Amino acid sequence: MSQPGSFYITTPIFYVNDVPHIGHAYTEVATDVLARWHRQSGDDTWLLTGTDEHGQKIERTAAANGVSPKAWADKLVAEAWLPVLDTIDIANDDFIRTTDERHETAVAKFLQQLYDEGHIYEGVYEGYYCVGCEEYKQPDDLEHPEDGEFAGHFICKIHSRPVEILKEKNYFFRMSDFGDALLKLYDEQPDFVQPDSVRNEIIQFVKQGLEDLSISRSSFDWGIKVPWDPTHVVYVWFDALLNYATAVGWGSDTEQFRRRWPAVHIVGKDIARFHAVIWPAMLMAAGLPVPAHVFGHGWLLVGGEKMSKSKLTGIAPAQITDVFGSDAFRYYFLSAITFGQDGSFSWEDLSARYQAELANGFGNLASRVIAMIEKYRDSVVPDATRDVAIVDLEKNVTDAAHAAIGTFAIHEALASIERLVDALNGYVTDQAPWVLAKDPAQSERLDQVLATLAHGVGTLAVLYSPVMPQATAKLWAALGESGALLEQRVDTAWDRPGGGTVSPLDPLFPRVEVESANS
Ligand code: MSP
Repeated sequence: MSQPGSFYITTPIFYVNDVPHIGHAYTEVATDVLARWHRQSGDDTWLLTGTDEHGQKIERTAAANGVSPKAWADKLVAEAWLPVLDTIDIANDDFIRTTDERHETAVAKFLQQLYDEGHIYEGVYEGYYCVGCEEYKQPDDLEHPEDGEFAGHFICKIHSRPVEILKEKNYFFRMSDFGDALLKLYDEQPDFVQPDSVRNEIIQFVKQGLEDLSISRSSFDWGIKVPWDPTHVVYVWFDALLNYATAVGWGSDTEQFRRRWPAVHIVGKDIARFHAVIWPAMLMAAGLPVPAHVFGHGWLLVGGEKMSKSKLTGIAPAQITDVFGSDAFRYYFLSAITFGQDGSFSWEDLSARYQAELANGFGNLASRVIAMIEKYRDSVVPDATRDVAIVDLEKNVTDAAHAAIGTFAIHEALASIERLVDALNGYVTDQAPWVLAKDPAQSERLDQVLATLAHGVGTLAVLYSPVMPQATAKLWAALGESGALLEQRVDTAWDRPGGGTVSPLDPLFPRVEVESANS
């Protein structure tokens, strides 16, 4: 449906019951890096993020705070969820709120279409519900402890809190009609759900047989009204999943929808099932193309557990960015954790990698190269033949990083780029420009070495720009390069003659006081 070279990528939309923590920021940053990489590869890119504002969880939080759900959502969006995008440097193209008129109108239209076409019927839901997950639960999803605080209750494994028992007149979506079509989809498009661990779990789940899904609630009213029966509100996940389509014009702007759809969805593995089962079934029912990919990333663990506010292990992104900066935040989580697997966060690991890889690695290299060109060549980058081994490595690293991003292996892309940092640092030591500078007979050689180094760090500025937009912009400016950094392509090796004039560069990754980071 979408044009070749079109790349539409989404984050989950975040519940506004609470403020963001670094787990949410991790999802945002990973998605943003993929979007920036595609933008700099010439793709017609669109990054969507936003907030999920309906449902019981938000309604109860608002009530507990003595305000209306809408007033609560407005406050959290303005004071927490929009500001965090700046804190971690997200370059989103749109921000959707499920209370936006554009979304509410299109959700009602979508539901009416499915109802008119016989995909929805009235029934009674009797079973468990976790308000934390906003999910109907099967006995398998629950624990039943014999002692402790919740002895005798059914407990949600994710939230470690008792679930509720519902008996409600609801409308149901005939999801069971789509089990075979979904299995066919996973089979024919093996990269539809990634990584394999998530894919296997999804296939197992669907193979057990799908039940129909309750898609309305009638015991509270904070939601979008079911168009043919306003005594019901739309089930919050059914409403939320539709954001990916309504934000790009489904139901209002056919042209835009055609240009953007289908999407690549980046989600935490805990919500992969909603995205890889319910959502494609909804789209199939509406006769729409399924998403391009659903990638379920792992969890950030703190003390071995999924980090979460409800378990009091939540860390606010600004606690990290205030000390290390947003670039280091972005770099750290994407390089230290294999994208698709869980990863443990610790201040010690963050400090150690900051120091070794950013301050002493990339940052120090950049400072030395600029300083040597200032000192030995009066700030002019020599226009000389570059060493072929480094030229080849630049190409090799660019190709490897680009290929890795194409398979969502962000950590591999970063590992490839780091090979160039290491090689250039080794090259400085081996070539010892300070020795060459003492011997006038080596002047031409010194030109070659400095040209090679300047080009090498220029390549690093380009390749790292999707991950560390601020440091690379400073480096780019110090290299005296013309043209906007964000317009440089990352899919083919950067290639420029010398001749520019460098200017002084402050340390890209200044020394930090580790005590303040840990406090
Ligand atoms: N509102 C739903 C998503 C609807 S999408 C149509 C939701 N919101 S959430 O705010 O609870 O979570 C949003 C994302 O943050 C999810 O992808 C979730 O996996 C991610 N994370 C929350 N805690 C996390 C960690 N500790 N680690 C990594 N990601 C985490 O679910």
